[in-house]
Amino acid sequence: MTAAQLGVLCACVVLFVPMGMAGWHLSRNKVLFFSGALFITLAVGVHIAPYFPAASHLIFPSLSPYYSSSPPFRSSSCLSFLHDVSFFPSHAPSSFDWLRFRSRPADCDFQKLSRSDVGELLNGSWIIVAGDSQARFFVLALLRLLLEPSSLEAIQGDLFRRHSDYHIHISDQGVKLDFLWSPFESNITSVLRQLRSVSRLPELLVAGSGLWHMLHVNNASDYGEALTSLRRSGASLVSPFSSGLVMQPPHMFWLGMPKLMNSMLNTEEKKERLTNVIWESYCQKVDYSGILTQSGGPFLLLDIGSLSRICGQKCTTDGMHYEGLVYETALQIMLNALLIESQQRI
Ligand SMILES: *[C@@H]1O[C@H](CO)[C@@H](O)[C@H](O)[C@H]1NC(C)=O
Ligand SMILES: *[C@@H]1O[C@H](CO)[C@@H](O)[C@H](O)[C@H]1NC(C)=O
Ligand SMILES: *[C@@H]1O[C@H](CO)[C@@H](O)[C@H](O)[C@H]1NC(C)=O
Repeated sequence: MTAAQLGVLCACVVLFVPMGMAGWHLSRNKVLFFSGALFITLAVGVHIAPYFPAASHLIFPSLSPYYSSSPPFRSSSCLSFLHDVSFFPSHAPSSFDWLRFRSRPADCDFQKLSRSDVGELLNGSWIIVAGDSQARFFVLALLRLLLEPSSLEAIQGDLFRRHSDYHIHISDQGVKLDFLWSPFESNITSVLRQLRSVSRLPELLVAGSGLWHMLHVNNASDYGEALTSLRRSGASLVSPFSSGLVMQPPHMFWLGMPKLMNSMLNTEEKKERLTNVIWESYCQKVDYSGILTQSGGPFLLLDIGSLSRICGQKCTTDGMHYEGLVYETALQIMLNALLIESQQRI
């Protein structure tokens, strides 16, 4: 239903309900009173509705930019099957064609989205990716899907300039993409805080960090505290009451830390600090911090840790950055999650 149709419906209710009552022998003053009360109720209702996400989708469905054609409906319980993947054959993990999805309920089928699917799904979106080098690889996977290979080559150099942001507007798809170099959790928290004062929110926000903190601070409790402030800033974006926002909150995803292959790390400092024991304790902090949807938080996990473990040692040369396949898979998981979420929203 469009806003115009809704307006007409409201007008009819305001007009005809009191007229019907008049038919039941109410005095003209009472009719005027009911008519006024109804009008005020409806007017207040329409203004309050955007604060309640479920109701606002009934009233303003056009705010959801995703997918006008109709993929098969999948319930939100399918989200938990998205990471059930394996990579074949074991020796050549360089192309997405090697990816296989393990068995799952028939109505939770996973779709590999093509360039045109993604063009439609993300058309008109503003995407922010904030994080460390893992996030950069994720952006590369996204650009690989959105752009022709020829235009990608020129871009890759800019994207991988050390420690810098990267911005691109892809006019064919109407996609605006900002990569914000945010190696520490506090950097991501400032990105989230700044979003509270903008007039438009991104449709999609992907964030993730941890390895820099592990290398330079190496203190899991401190990491946990940083995640707690991050969660607060993230939660205030999705809950309009605390921030005064009435805009649609972004879909939010958290890029988990990759599995570390300690013996392959390329400096002594890394080998000493990025151990499996500390990695485990950092991952636990993410679980306990409440940032993830599974613990009531705003971010859905893209589990790079599990994907990189499945891909294994053959998929990395430096023990911490993995083949494109891992990030492409994470991207497809995100796109499928978006499809599922947007179906729940419509
Ligand atoms: C994106 O949307 C615009 C306007 O709605 C449309 O003209 C364009 O063809 C769409 N692009 C894609 C790739 O779907
Ligand atoms: C990220 O945070 C660190 C520590 O708070 C700070 O020194 C650095 O300047 C920040 N970097 C960016 C890009 O904001
Ligand atoms: C680790 O961080 C916590 C919280 O910031 C701090 O209280 C503690 O002293 C730190 N531990 C070490 C060994 O620096």
